[in-house]
Amino acid sequence: MVNAVLRNILRNTNKIKYEENIYPNFKRVLDKIFSSKSIRDYIYGTLFIKPKNFQISTLYKKNALYGNRVYILEKKIFKGCFVQDIGNFEVINSVHKFYKDKNLIDVCAAPGGKSILLHSLGFNVSAIDKSQNQINKFKENLSRLNIKMNIKKIDFLKKKFDRKYNSILLDAPCSALGTFRRNPDVTVKVDKSQIKKHQKIQIEMMEKSLKILNKRGFLVYVVCSFHPFETIDVIDKIMQKHKNIKLHNIKSGKMIKKQNGYFINPLNFKDIGGSDIFFVSVLEKIK
Ligand SMILES: C[S@@+](CC[C@H](N)C(=O)[O-])C[C@H]1O[C@@H](n2cnc3c(N)ncnc32)[C@H](O)[C@@H]1O
Repeated sequence: MVNAVLRNILRNTNKIKYEENIYPNFKRVLDKIFSSKSIRDYIYGTLFIKPKNFQISTLYKKNALYGNRVYILEKKIFKGCFVQDIGNFEVINSVHKFYKDKNLIDVCAAPGGKSILLHSLGFNVSAIDKSQNQINKFKENLSRLNIKMNIKKIDFLKKKFDRKYNSILLDAPCSALGTFRRNPDVTVKVDKSQIKKHQKIQIEMMEKSLKILNKRGFLVYVVCSFHPFETIDVIDKIMQKHKNIKLHNIKSGKMIKKQNGYFINPLNFKDIGGSDIFFVSVLEKIK
């Protein structure tokens, strides 16, 4: 019976209207963030298509596909490259210049995509993460690339810090809704209570980050999600409570600005295979 159904699906794949099968909660949230029809059409048109994978060079390359660093990942990873979505690359590529101090703490660092990119941009990264599994993957990447980095298994929310930082990256745990092309199951998991739980942790992490941020220091908040609870609302809640924070504008032709942060616009990467959707906000402690 199951085989017969699958065979029938395979015979009729070109007749299936995927847009009609998008989980309503997922569509509602996406439509809220991307008010432009052309962006929505692009996203819905590519929702069920296997995405291209990218690899990023740790060195500047003149012949790269994008940003002097990005290549398509075909069969093999090139020497000195690591795998990362182009949206992930764009986030760090467009915010790293805000950090005046190149000694940076990445408080949710594993498996290391952003830390490695920052390292290759000249940052001295202290990386922490609470998951040993993820740290192991991070270490494998580092040893393949022959990079030395300070990684510690620490629960950021429990750790008592005896110093403050000028440069903090918080790439917070989230629903991963923005990675729907790689993880199609997230499209059916847009559950309000679950996402509220993520939001609670994200706010706790923001509070903790601000506690250890020096005056005139920069905190970058990132999530691979476009759910308002995990993005705009987190920043709103933080801004309402902390009057000593300034939000900065990001210069990137590849993102869409909302009131307090930016979403990667995958349509801007259409010609090279699209991208995952990230949210990023740059905060400075001014007092
Ligand atoms: C979005 S992933 C980070 C991805 C990473 N920055 C990168 O670019 O490859 C979120 C990470 O936060 C970690 N995490 C979750 N809760 C944490 C906590 N309380 N303290 C430290 N790390 C935590 C998870 O183990 C996970 O590796």
